[in-house]
Amino acid sequence: MTQTPPHGPQDRILILDFGSQVTQLIARRLRESGVYCEVWPFNNAAAERIVAFAPKGIILSGGPASVTEGASPRAPDAIFGMGLPILGICYGQQTMAAQLGGTVEGGHAREFGRATVDITGDCAITQGVWAPGAREDVWMSHGDRITVLPPGFRVVASSEGAPFALIANDARHYYGTMFHPEVVHTPHGAALLRNFTHLVCGCTGDWTMAGFRAEAIARIRAQVGSGRVICGLSGGVDSSVAAVLLHEAIGDQLTCIYVDHGLMRANESTQVVATFRDRFNIRLVHRDASDMFLGELAGVTDPEAKRKIIGRLFIEVFEEEQTKIGGADFLAQGTLYPDVIESVSATGGPSVTIKSHHNVGGLPEGMRMQLVEPLRDLFKDEVRALGRELGMPEEIVGRHPFPGPGLAIRIPGEVTRERADILRKADTIYLEEIRNAGLYDQIWQAFAVLLPVRTVGVMGDGRTYDHACALRAVTSTDGMTADVYPFEVAFLTRVAGRIVNEVRGINRVTYDVTSKPPGTIEWE
Ligand code: XMP
Repeated sequence: MTQTPPHGPQDRILILDFGSQVTQLIARRLRESGVYCEVWPFNNAAAERIVAFAPKGIILSGGPASVTEGASPRAPDAIFGMGLPILGICYGQQTMAAQLGGTVEGGHAREFGRATVDITGDCAITQGVWAPGAREDVWMSHGDRITVLPPGFRVVASSEGAPFALIANDARHYYGTMFHPEVVHTPHGAALLRNFTHLVCGCTGDWTMAGFRAEAIARIRAQVGSGRVICGLSGGVDSSVAAVLLHEAIGDQLTCIYVDHGLMRANESTQVVATFRDRFNIRLVHRDASDMFLGELAGVTDPEAKRKIIGRLFIEVFEEEQTKIGGADFLAQGTLYPDVIESVSATGGPSVTIKSHHNVGGLPEGMRMQLVEPLRDLFKDEVRALGRELGMPEEIVGRHPFPGPGLAIRIPGEVTRERADILRKADTIYLEEIRNAGLYDQIWQAFAVLLPVRTVGVMGDGRTYDHACALRAVTSTDGMTADVYPFEVAFLTRVAGRIVNEVRGINRVTYDVTSKPPGTIEWE
C-alpha cells in the first residue's frame, strides 16, 4: 500500500476491518458527522502504528467469520491496554467479548435483516436517541451470539435472537452492538455512532472541507517541492477536483493532459477546455486523438477488446504528450478512498484482497514518476464537497460519473464515428429532458445506449429501418449496486418522441429496467 502522508490535527477514529460487506459505511457515517477516520485490516494494525495514528477511539467492524472457530480473526490484544474507548459491531462485538473473558456460541437461530430490540437500560451510546422501555428497529446479520458477558459489561438492549444486542462497560468505555448501526436500515444508527465518537471519544466534529483543503495543499507542496506534475484530466468529477486542488497548491508546476478519444459526450471537450484553461488558468494540453482511437476500434466488437485498445492508446497518447512538455516528476491521479481501502478476506488472510485503481490505466513501464493522489482520503460525495469548496461550477462537481472508455462501451458492436455521433445526439436530448424535469441530481447516472439492432418503423408515410436505442437511469450510492430510476411513463414517452423525431438513425427507444446486480450499470 502506498504510504498515506501524515494527517493534520483533527480528531480521528480507527476502524479495524474484519471483512464485513458494510465496513465502509461505518467510515461514511463517521465522516458525515465530521469525524476523520481510517479503515485498516485487523491484521495490519501493529500497536506502534495505532499509537502513531493517535485515534480517540477504535471501532471493530463486523465480518463473515465465526469467533467459535479456532483460527478466526481477533482484534490486536494491545488495543485493550491503550485506555481508548472501543465499539465492537457484530463480529467486532463478539471477538471483543471473547477476548475479554466472555463466551460466544454458535448454533443459535440466525437473525438476518430487520429486527426489533427492547431498550432495557441506558448508556452513553443511547443518550438522547433511545429511551429505556422503547422498542426500536435495527438491522441484524449474525449466526453466533454472546451467551456470557465479559466482566464489567451489562445489557442495554436485547432482541429475541440476540439477548445482548447492545452491551456496555461504562468504566472502560467499551460498547458492543449485535446489530449494524452503520446501515440505513437501523434508523437511529448514525445517531448511536455519533454518540460513540462525540460523547464517548470526545471528538468535536472538526473534519471539514475547508480544513481538508488547507491541509491537502500543504501536503501536496511538501511532497512535490519544486517538481513538475502532470495530471490526466478526463473532465469527470475526481480528476477535475484533483486538478483544481493541485493548481491551487503548485500553480504552473502542474500541466493537465486531456485526451479526447472521440468518444466523449457532446460539447465535453469544449467545456473542459473552457473551464480549466480559461476559468482556472490551468496549463492544459488538449489532444484530439479521435482518428487514432476510432481507427483502431474499427471492426472490433468484443467489449473487453475495446476496453483494452482504449486503455493502451490512452497511455500511448498520454506518454507522447508528457514527453512533448519535457516530462514530469509526478503523476497526479484522482484515486478515491474506496479504491484505497484494503478489504480483508473472509478468513482474514493470508490472502488479503487489495483493490487497486489507476485512473490512467496503470503506470506505463519506464514512466518513472511518483504518484500524487490528493483525494485518496475522500469518498465521492466528499470530493464533490471539496469541489464546491474550491469554487468549481456545479456542472462539473455534480455531474454523473462517466466511464474512461466513454461512449465505446455504450455502443454494443462496432464503434464508428457515425454511431458515436448518433448516440451523442440521443444522449444530449435525454439529459436535457432529465435536467428540465429537475431530476438530474436524484439520479446517479443516466445515459443512452445505441443498439446494433435495426427495427422497422413508420414515419409520415414512409417506412424506416433504423437503430434502436436504450435509455438507462439508476440510483446508487457507490456504483457497486444500483436500482432502476422509476421515471413516469409520460416522461419516457416524451424523451422517446423527441429522440425518434430529432435524431436521424434511431426509430425506436426502450427503457432498461435491470438493477445491478444482476445487470451492470454500463452495457459493456
Ligand atoms: P458497471 O458497469 O461495472 O459500472 O456497473 C460501475 C460504475 O463504474 C463506471 N465504469 C467505469 N469507470 N472506467 C471508469 O472510469 C471504466 O472503465 C469504467 N467502467 C465502468 C460506470 O460508469 C459506473 O459508474
